Amino acid sequence: MHQKTFYLKNESDTCALGKSLAAVLKAGLKIYLHGDLGAGKTTLIRAMLKEAGHKGKVKSPTYTLVEPYSIDLNNRPVDLLHFDLYRLGCPEEFLEAGFREHFNEKTICFIEWAEKADPELPPPDLVISLEVTGDGRTACLKASSDKGSHCLENLRFLPHS
Ligand SMILES: Nc1ncnc2c1ncn2[C@@H]1O[C@H](COP(=O)(O)OP(=O)(O)OP(=O)(O)O)[C@@H](O)[C@H]1O
Ligand SMILES: [Mg+2]
Repeated sequence: MHQKTFYLKNESDTCALGKSLAAVLKAGLKIYLHGDLGAGKTTLIRAMLKEAGHKGKVKSPTYTLVEPYSIDLNNRPVDLLHFDLYRLGCPEEFLEAGFREHFNEKTICFIEWAEKADPELPPPDLVISLEVTGDGRTACLKASSDKGSHCLENLRFLPHS
């Protein structure tokens, strides 16, 4: 399956990658983000949401576990869920909270710390790993479905700096 790696020199580059992602979103996409605390997962998602037309604040869902948004795709509203499962006690909690219901062909899900809900999560379409590299970050994007591959093929990343 498709894979792309980028070096993100600074926060602006991370935001630029987030913006590029906004242009290739499709209903039903499941995108999981990996990387240590402070790797840049929320920064990337925040930039993506702003580019996708979200006007308000984008909070890190560290305590709420999930924040819901609505974005416009081809003039249609699409629900987008931003999860941060770092504080999930155990994988079963993911099911008990009813989170599984959000995973369908109509909704877009971005998940930070998806590994905390393993094995209760459905498989992702795209996995983004962020790794601290010197002063910057290395972003590795891996498609794991046709939908994810399509998304990666269309991705046009323009570093900001
Ligand atoms: N490419 C980059 N180079 C250097 N610093 C960056 C880069 N991208 C983001 N940062 C910085 O790294 C930090 C990332 O914080 P952020 O909250 O996005 O991380 P996170 O991966 O969501 O962490 P957590 O797991 O705690 O939710 C911010 O301080 C941001 O300014
Ligand atoms: Mg975060």
